Amino acid sequence: MASLEDLIPTVNKLQDVMYASGIDTLDLPVLAVVGSQSSGKSSILETLVGRDFLPRGTGIVTRRPLVLQLNNIKRKIDDDADHDADVDAGPRYEEEWGEFLHLPGKKFHDFDEIRHEIEHETARIAGKNKGISKLPINLKVFSPHVLNLTLVDLPGITKVPIGEQPIDIEKQIKNLILDYIATPNCLILAVSPANVDLVNSESLKLAKEVDPYGKRTIGVITKLDLMDSGTNAMDILLGKVYPLELGFVGIVNRSQQDIQLNISVKQALENEDHYFARHPVYRTIANRCGTRYLAKLLNKTLMSHIRDKLPDIKTKLNMLINQTEKDLLSFGTMGLIDKKESKAGLILQLMNKFATNFISSIDGNSSNIN
Ligand code: GDP
Ligand code: NA
Ligand code: MG
Repeated sequence: MASLEDLIPTVNKLQDVMYASGIDTLDLPVLAVVGSQSSGKSSILETLVGRDFLPRGTGIVTRRPLVLQLNNIKRKIDDDADHDADVDAGPRYEEEWGEFLHLPGKKFHDFDEIRHEIEHETARIAGKNKGISKLPINLKVFSPHVLNLTLVDLPGITKVPIGEQPIDIEKQIKNLILDYIATPNCLILAVSPANVDLVNSESLKLAKEVDPYGKRTIGVITKLDLMDSGTNAMDILLGKVYPLELGFVGIVNRSQQDIQLNISVKQALENEDHYFARHPVYRTIANRCGTRYLAKLLNKTLMSHIRDKLPDIKTKLNMLINQTEKDLLSFGTMGLIDKKESKAGLILQLMNKFATNFISSIDGNSSNIN
């Protein structure tokens, strides 16, 4: 029997099938990360993954959407005693890997190589040092240390074109972001740095354009450690300043100095826990702060969002199945004979499998799921 925990992996598979077939009409639920340049988006994603793997640098580094599917895999149970020695050495790298949709079958165990591949693939489509492209890069990460999540990293909102960037770069980026977040199936992770006044938050301004009542926007306040001494973001985090149904989460990522000192993501996560636990003001809400809490909140919110959208997905999927069947029939007898082997036939089989086995079983039980 399908469970709520299987929802995100299932939608991920469906996403892959749709992608392979060039169909993008299903509007499957995702979580898009929005914020101005240097607001801390990449830092959040790396902490959620638990590894360094994203390109860094000044200027617009993210120039194509990065669809990041995090897949929780069970840690290998190993009765081989000499592995105990590894436990304190951190994660065993062979049990975490990445795969790109554009390089099927290739497993990346070295996360530096993942970074290089993202850079390479960005340049291939969007050019070496300017332009942006709407064409996404799809990366899956398999790890026992992640929660199931599908996130889209989008280019940061920027005001001033630099180098060879087109004059209208701000508009281009905003349009790309709006393309993603306008669909009602998209949850918006709106990132705002704490050292900039919230009324000037570019991410909240954009989110408001497509989600005026703040129903599918999650606010993230980064750089709490960089606020002027004597000030804090407590009122924002308690929802007294800006209305969002899903609320705000406070974060402390690695600083530029931490990165230069090679502080690991794992260490940063522990530092963040300590920061909130010991803070004179935030310690009262420490259990609702930090990246660890954010990961759980996102996982839970995405699951319930997908569950709410299941009837929609099912209807669209059935329409798609009917259409594909019609298309296959229009090839005549040949089409029917080849049905099993053809790409369209394969996709049809997969879609049918999801529609019957999975979606209906969850849908039928949805009243029991909370
Ligand atoms: P992005 O452009 O939105 O992806 O931002 P990055 O994650 O690349 O962060 C930009 C810079 O801000 C980097 O030097 C980070 O180390 C730093 N930074 C991000 N979040 C925080 C934070 O919470 N505290 C501090 N002190 N620095 C941060
Ligand atoms: Na912002
Ligand atoms: Mg970034």
